[in-house]
Amino acid sequence: MARAAVENLGSIFVKPAAYADPFEWHAKARRIREESPILKVDVEKYPEFWAVTKHADIMEIERNPEIFTNAPVPTLTPKANMRDMIDAPVKTLIQMDGDEHKAHRNIVNDWFKPGNVRNLQERIDELARRYVDVMADLGGYCDFANDVAVHFPLQVILAILGLPEDDYPRMLKLTQELFGAEDPDIARKGRDEAAVAVLLDLVAYFTNLTLDRRAHPTGDLASVIANAELGGEALPDMDTLGHYVIIATAGHDTTSSVIAGGLLALLENRPQLELLQANPALVHSAVDELIRFVSPVKHFMRTCQQPFTLRGITFQPGELVLLSYASGNRDDEIFADPFHLDVQRENAAGHLAFGFGRHFCLGAHLARLEIRALFTELFGRLEYIELAGEPTWTHANFVQGPKSIPISYRLR
Ligand code: HEM
Repeated sequence: MARAAVENLGSIFVKPAAYADPFEWHAKARRIREESPILKVDVEKYPEFWAVTKHADIMEIERNPEIFTNAPVPTLTPKANMRDMIDAPVKTLIQMDGDEHKAHRNIVNDWFKPGNVRNLQERIDELARRYVDVMADLGGYCDFANDVAVHFPLQVILAILGLPEDDYPRMLKLTQELFGAEDPDIARKGRDEAAVAVLLDLVAYFTNLTLDRRAHPTGDLASVIANAELGGEALPDMDTLGHYVIIATAGHDTTSSVIAGGLLALLENRPQLELLQANPALVHSAVDELIRFVSPVKHFMRTCQQPFTLRGITFQPGELVLLSYASGNRDDEIFADPFHLDVQRENAAGHLAFGFGRHFCLGAHLARLEIRALFTELFGRLEYIELAGEPTWTHANFVQGPKSIPISYRLR
């Protein structure tokens, strides 16, 4: 078969289904890195953009947030939906730049600092134990993605917000629908109606939460958000909503994808799995390698504000630039043998899965703590494990990971 010209490979950054075949996706991304590392992509129904695929180039762009802004569209969006996204009444941190971003990030920043996140250790360990107990109760066979990985991070994030366990099923459905809107198995029927219904559910839920925490502050993260002030004034309702939405959604599918994708990567690299089983203390340093390997946030988008030259290409004002974290994290100029999972990789923490610079993931410490807690508990109790069927992957081009991972196992 004739080899496709590299110019025709750009649709891998756009088509949700392309990410559902990670092996093929990474083979194509590698060719792009080698032959045309900043690639012009023009796919029907989407705005034209530059895909940036090298680790060093992604960092260079993130180092210049005045030139490459998150506003107006921080993720790849079909042309038909761009206006709605720009006019959306609820803005979150990822749509903000400059002083506005700084002021809003400061509201929640302290909550996510390592010192504070460490206070959550006990609760997170307890939840990790609970989910490994769930595996034990399932009697040696489960779908690890759906039975374990999806639930644990949502329990953690909602515990931090201070929400009751009764609300978990509703939040689970909402966050999955927001991120999995392109996946035929997840999306509600009727695209526009679906998006509106998901959003309305969220608005109603969080409006009640704000009213409650303003009347009865409890000291949880929801109380910090509900009672926050900017310039001496209470935060407008839509800004309050933006904070809930980003925290509830950004902390969920991302972490669950690393937990599910991380276990799958280990099952497909058994010597690495055996290393962790023999020495669960290694989980600590393995976490960043698992995050690098899975890279669940496939991209973020920036808009160029003034001419800027990189690798001989001059971006012009108004042009869109897609930062392919998934590609940068397999760049062999940074990571030796990048397609190999190496739980003892020394520079694994240099990955870009949490981004870089001003928008660096607010929940990075928390995510590491969660992943570490679950795998420490699991590998401490696991006697035997193997894949019991074909894994499947969600169809999505923003946050993406395994959809199902059938496993059989024996636990202590
Ligand atoms: C393994 C899990 C996670 C991954 C891979 C991940 C990845 C990312 C990435 C790539 C960004 C954008 C960075 C940039 O633009 O340079 C980001 C931003 C963000 N993440 Fe995470 N994330 C994870 C977990 C979490 C968790 C647990 C939370 C907390 C609840 C969280 C909250 C946020 C927030 C609030 C932002 C926006 C920060 C800003 O724009 O200033 N994330 N994350």
